[in-house]
Amino acid sequence: MTTTRTLGRGGTAVSALGFGCWAIGGEHWMADGQPVGWGKVDDDESVRAVRRALDLGVTFFDTADSYGTGHSEEILGRALGKRRDEVVLATKWGNVFDPDTRTLTGTDDTPEYARRALTASLRRLGTDRVDLYQLHISDADPERAAELRDACEEFVREGLVRAYGWSTDDPERAAVFAEGPHCAAVQHALNVLQDAPRTLALCERLELASVNRSPLAMGLLAGRREGTLDAGDIRSRPPAWLPGYASDGSGADPQWLDRIDAVRSLLTSDGRTLAQGALAWLWARSPRTVPIPGFRTVAQAEENAGAIEKGPLTAGQLAEIDRLLGR
Ligand SMILES: NC(=O)c1ccc[n+]([C@@H]2O[C@H](COP(=O)([O-])OP(=O)(O)OC[C@H]3O[C@@H](n4cnc5c(N)ncnc54)[C@H](OP(=O)(O)O)[C@@H]3O)[C@@H](O)[C@H]2O)c1
Repeated sequence: MTTTRTLGRGGTAVSALGFGCWAIGGEHWMADGQPVGWGKVDDDESVRAVRRALDLGVTFFDTADSYGTGHSEEILGRALGKRRDEVVLATKWGNVFDPDTRTLTGTDDTPEYARRALTASLRRLGTDRVDLYQLHISDADPERAAELRDACEEFVREGLVRAYGWSTDDPERAAVFAEGPHCAAVQHALNVLQDAPRTLALCERLELASVNRSPLAMGLLAGRREGTLDAGDIRSRPPAWLPGYASDGSGADPQWLDRIDAVRSLLTSDGRTLAQGALAWLWARSPRTVPIPGFRTVAQAEENAGAIEKGPLTAGQLAEIDRLLGR
């Protein structure tokens, strides 16, 4: 496998593996107390992990202004420092939040808010441009989103943004953004247990990158089974939209663990760890995919980056996984 992928039609090259920076934002909540972060984090370890990833050839980092209500962007900016120009930086906007209480308070789909959010992200990241700016309101109204797409084109003209995309699992919504000439990507859920054929078909047809969130099924495809989850960890009290974890807060959904067990030996063949096999599945699934696994530690950064040299699964292994999962 070539170790780079193209980010959309503009042709910006990124490492085939990106790193997702949600977890390193630390704790934050919805107004009703629902945790939407990943619990407590050690900022110094997060910085070391980002730098280790850079040293191992990772050149694509995804964050959002709302992760840790700004904290993830600040930590990423700090970790990159003078090496900022070595990477392609992706962030998101659309959620409104209060950093003093670390609370998400709503969403705002107006172009005026997009500009304010962009200005704040640039400051926290310590940069003069965002390479990939993504709409974080997955179910935003498509007509309102068309105005946001036009606002993004204006940001591109001003040099504040290089390219943009929509973080949504709905290919019809993604197609609204794709009408803009500088749209480069769709960010959507994709992993061994959650296929997304319609969104992948759109990406292949329109030459968009398929940026894959939750590539490790929020830790399950990296080996997490049971064990106590921090009270500030979203997986301890999963909201309705979060699959893979039992709604009573008892941890992993046993049905998901059974399905992982069914494909474990295939994913871990050829010397791969389970997490590396899950990433290898994504690269085999489509030439447009760029998985962005989350991480908290240097050890996780090393294991995940180690997947690159092992490359994708074979077409035969992919077909066998489909058969084992009854697809
Ligand atoms: N709406 C959106 O736009 C949206 C939504 C979700 C995610 N995202 C993006 O996608 C990124 C990744 O998705 P995700 O955070 O949902 O989950 P994920 O990548 O499927 O899982 C990440 C988690 O798995 C565990 N892990 C990672 N590598 C591991 C390893 N080698 N060994 C053992 N455990 C490992 C870590 O958690 P533990 O160590 O705590 O288990 C880590 O936080 C996010 O960071 C974010 O950038 C975007």
